[in-house]
Amino acid sequence: MSNVCIIGTGSYLPEHVMTNDDLSNLVDTSDEWIRTRTGIRERRISTGMSTSDLAYEAGARALQSSGLKPEDIDLIICATITPDYFMPSCACIVQDRLGAINAAAFDLVAACTGMIYGIVTAKQFIKSGMYENVLVIGSETLSKVLDWENRSSCVLFGDGAGAVVLSKASEGSKILASRLEADGSKHNLLTCSALPLHNPYVNTGVQDMQRQGSFCLPKIEMLGQEVFKYAVRTIIDNINNILNMAELTKEDITYIIPHQANQRIIEQASKTCKIPIDKFHMNLDRYGNTSAASIGIALDELVSSGKLKKKDKVILVGFGGGMTSGSILLEWS
Ligand code: COA
Repeated sequence: MSNVCIIGTGSYLPEHVMTNDDLSNLVDTSDEWIRTRTGIRERRISTGMSTSDLAYEAGARALQSSGLKPEDIDLIICATITPDYFMPSCACIVQDRLGAINAAAFDLVAACTGMIYGIVTAKQFIKSGMYENVLVIGSETLSKVLDWENRSSCVLFGDGAGAVVLSKASEGSKILASRLEADGSKHNLLTCSALPLHNPYVNTGVQDMQRQGSFCLPKIEMLGQEVFKYAVRTIIDNINNILNMAELTKEDITYIIPHQANQRIIEQASKTCKIPIDKFHMNLDRYGNTSAASIGIALDELVSSGKLKKKDKVILVGFGGGMTSGSILLEWS
């Protein structure tokens, strides 16, 4: 019997490390404040690579680890909130650079839940019989939409990319269950604006601002404490619900890979769920919050470390702007 399996993983982080001390030269903050409130020590910041560059590097690594050739890929999905262009999609640029000439390609926006939405979308294409091999990438250069004068937000995020190859296969790390959620009524908790309407019938002042040189670039804005509460609640709900779907208990789970936003969010969820904190894989101390990239980077790291063993059950759980959330239960192979 064939399943939908993860047959390859990959990730890429820009080389430049920005420490908390580096940030304290830009805004009124300190290493101590950032570490104790978030768990973050440093993050990677792109000094030239675009979102599609990072996506290409992570995608190429995932492809190599899958053993497939670029022409075997039927679909590329790139989850991102920081694309190079409104169009073309980041996925189309990656398709060209990989030489994945048989692949359809599109971008997907689900903010920090992007990798979960991407994998579940890929799974549905494979299950329906339309495609056999799908490359899912989460890639972000969040540094270009950060307000570098706002200490409440600029300390949280970083750049990076993670990727997985999914395939219809009888052997491999199979998806046992998955779920997606959205609560659009909370869309104002975490935002990054695009362009206001402006055309010959509507004057929202954009052209005037451009002429005066005062046009504001889009930037991430958030209601931090509200997001924090949503995040804790949604991790707990997702873990409980996916365990119920799969008729498993928390004792059956070896690892949980949560979206890497804040150590305190993860610790609170761990405490409430009564799941030991050492089951939660974290790397946010080194990379901060890389939005759609974070779960793919963390999964690739866990795979490369050799910690995952055959039959281990792993939950991936994400949450983010929208608000969106979702989870995936895997049996490792
Ligand atoms: N350095 C020093 N002080 C800071 C600071 C920083 N980087 N950022 C905020 N502060 C200050 C505030 O100005 C405030 O000062 P005041 O009391 O004088 O007004 C004080 O610290 C407390 O601010 P508050 O916002 O209440 O802190 P907090 O404990 O809620 O932590 C976050 C703030 C952003 C770390 C926390 O709310 C959070 O992590 N939220 C979730 C955000 C997130 O994960 N978003 C992405 C989800 S995908």
